[in-house]
Amino acid sequence: MGEKHVVRFEPVGVEIEVDEEKTVLRAAAEQGITLMHGCKEGQCAACKSFVLEGDDIELDKYSTFALPDFELDEGFTLLCRAHVYEDVTIELLNYDEEMLRSGHPIQEVKAEVVSKDHVTHDMRHLVLKLVEPTEIAFWPGQYVDIAIPGTEATRSFSMANVSSKESGQLEFVIRCYPDGRFSSFLDTELAVGDQLDVVGPFGVFTLRDGRDSDIVFVGGGAGMAPILSVLRSLAEKKSTRKATYYYGARTQKDLCFEKELYALTEQLPNFTFVPALSEADPDEPWDGEVGLITDIVKQHETDLSETDSYVCGPPPMVEAAMDVLTELGAPEKNIYYDKFTTTGSSEEP
Ligand SMILES: Cc1cc2nc3c(=O)[nH]c(=O)nc-3n(C[C@H](O)[C@H](O)[C@H](O)COP(=O)(O)OP(=O)(O)OC[C@H]3O[C@@H](n4cnc5c(N)ncnc54)[C@H](O)[C@@H]3O)c2cc1C
Ligand code: FES
Repeated sequence: MGEKHVVRFEPVGVEIEVDEEKTVLRAAAEQGITLMHGCKEGQCAACKSFVLEGDDIELDKYSTFALPDFELDEGFTLLCRAHVYEDVTIELLNYDEEMLRSGHPIQEVKAEVVSKDHVTHDMRHLVLKLVEPTEIAFWPGQYVDIAIPGTEATRSFSMANVSSKESGQLEFVIRCYPDGRFSSFLDTELAVGDQLDVVGPFGVFTLRDGRDSDIVFVGGGAGMAPILSVLRSLAEKKSTRKATYYYGARTQKDLCFEKELYALTEQLPNFTFVPALSEADPDEPWDGEVGLITDIVKQHETDLSETDSYVCGPPPMVEAAMDVLTELGAPEKNIYYDKFTTTGSSEEP
């Protein structure tokens, strides 16, 4: 443990103590303060903030795409990389007051593999049982970091279930890449009964509740996981909000959880599920939508100015969806997203 310093966040007036050995983002998460973030690796710029007072700040390795040198000189910083060596005041450029103080402090958990069934040819439904502690509080839509056994590297995965309270379990939907460090290990080596180290929860992709505005979900690939979690929570609450889930897959063999999603259209009176195939196989019967999911959203929606949007999946899909949603009038502040950025690099520990 290092020396501790006070970090004050403006304009929200929240103060926390931060150990020199921890990043500001990590220390905040441990204290239940949810700051805006994405990759936590200095790559996405979601945590970019401005230093109002104090300059004894050092940054772990980051990408100059996220923080170009001229911005660093102007006083910008990345909270996921920043260590402070004196008291500082930080202006949050991007924050959500609703989320800021509603966080669950992160926990370190040991978990055991219960199952890792295929849900498509390249996606697995990983179920973990929490061993120590036996429960972890999270909001539907949040994610945890899972360590790659025997290394210091971690990967982020979003929970697909609503809570671990009664089940003591975490559920994930994970796309497996043949050369992916964690996902190919999961696919080929990880066995039922093996233990994994998990830290979390993180993330701001959670349902903004307490309002009755319509909701549009746009998902692709493993982006299914957090959206499924939020939809399952809406079903538990017997929500009557109008909600539409646009899910993009390449072919029919890339679709998953359709049975449950169609069942949810029965349970949730105003819920519609719109799957679309971008590379539909002409030899397989399919009476659903065909095309890029962003084009399908454009065909179905006309005015999203009063709508909350939730977007999740691979970064190019998220970026394209955000453009379409804003074109359709969705206020940027009401578009919530998780980009499934990849963190793998040859220099990883
Ligand atoms: C907030 C957040 C939440 C996430 N939630 C999920 C989730 O619920 N489910 C899930 O499956 N993933 C999720 N991810 C992505 C996940 O963390 C990993 O990055 C991903 O599983 C790849 O890790 P890996 O170790 O298997 O591959 P790495 O070893 O990191 O990558 C090796 C190679 O695999 C290929 N590859 C890896 N990822 C991709 C990709 N997305 N598209 C194309 N090629 C790729 C590339 O060739 C890459 O160079 C999330 C990411 C973030 C930031
Ligand atoms: S750069 Fe800090 S969260 Fe991505």
